[in-house]
Amino acid sequence: MSDQSQPIVKPQPIVEVEDLWVWLRKRGREIPLVRGLSYTLRPAEALSIVGESGAGKSIGVRAALGLLDPRLFRVTGSSKLVGTDVLALTAKERARYVPSVAALVFQDPGRSLNPTMRVGDQIAEAFLKGSGYEPGMTRAKAEARALQLMKDVRIAAAEERFKAYPNQLSGGMKQRVVIAIAVACKPQVLFCDEPTSSLDVTTQAAIMDLIGELRDQTGIATVTITHDLALAASRARKVIVMYGGQVVEALPARLVATESAMPYTTALIEAVPDIDGNGTPPTPIEGMPPDPANLPSGCSFHPRCRFAQDDCLTNTPELRVVAPAHELRCFHPVKDLELQEASR
Ligand SMILES: Nc1ncnc2c1ncn2[C@@H]1O[C@H](COP(=O)(O)OP(=O)(O)OP(=O)(O)O)[C@@H](O)[C@H]1O
Ligand SMILES: [Mg+2]
Repeated sequence: MSDQSQPIVKPQPIVEVEDLWVWLRKRGREIPLVRGLSYTLRPAEALSIVGESGAGKSIGVRAALGLLDPRLFRVTGSSKLVGTDVLALTAKERARYVPSVAALVFQDPGRSLNPTMRVGDQIAEAFLKGSGYEPGMTRAKAEARALQLMKDVRIAAAEERFKAYPNQLSGGMKQRVVIAIAVACKPQVLFCDEPTSSLDVTTQAAIMDLIGELRDQTGIATVTITHDLALAASRARKVIVMYGGQVVEALPARLVATESAMPYTTALIEAVPDIDGNGTPPTPIEGMPPDPANLPSGCSFHPRCRFAQDDCLTNTPELRVVAPAHELRCFHPVKDLELQEASR
């Protein structure tokens, strides 16, 4: 046997979103909602997209899955899911292809479930009619798989709950059922749009743990949208911070607490209780997120930025690489400012 070590081959990306722009068509105008979003995800990778309301997180994900109505929105760029650019497909091709590779879980599990159908049957449907279908599938086999999946997503007393209707389950249980249906379709990537924000804090953590377990067991990649930077940093591998439709900072999750350099990211950190563990009370970010129809000049964050200088009002910062896997859209990163202050 050769003693030369094998070169490390990175697995092919499952998601490659490249320069994604979304415009809302409104009274003859086009309003930019997402501006140049790019990210790549490989098997078993976890990405979190964070930002305040209106940042373009949901629209960005829906655009990447080809789910936006072309009469209302114009989308440019590319979104390759398992190597196929879904934006280059026809609507019919997309409707067949996307569910075979990707699943989307929403905030409100009640909305995703059929209130008139037992939850076990809803999971079994994914094996009978959905992308979870395999040749030779029978109702009995599908039901057995559905029951096993309910156990896999840690639904206690699964046999009993198999026969329950959605309104007989708690919010956390319903979200587990939704995740079971998503996983039954054997996606390679699971997009979760605020999967836990309708749930209490303990259930939120349990659902995020479940998504993590599924990722470890199946190699599925996950993209999770959240307002909660602390949750994002603790559960993801990479964090993207969006503001005004743009990525303003992207960095490895483990560096969020110590290396964040965009004043918006550090403001988000200060806005959540005790992410840095030093006991400081949360400080809300003053002001409002920008209106996409009326974006500020220069850096979109400058009207709310404590560190804004003259150039931030007139010049538009580009996203630039500042360290390995760390990108930043800012002329005056917090680290530089701290160093300047320290040297005074
Ligand atoms: N169907 C729609 N028609 C018109 N504008 C829309 C539509 N959906 C979203 N927008 C606008 O697009 C922008 C981005 O919205 P998006 O829903 O992506 O925000 P978000 O970051 O997901 O916020 P939240 O955290 O509140 O879910 C917002 O200004 C929003 O008003
Ligand atoms: Mg949203």
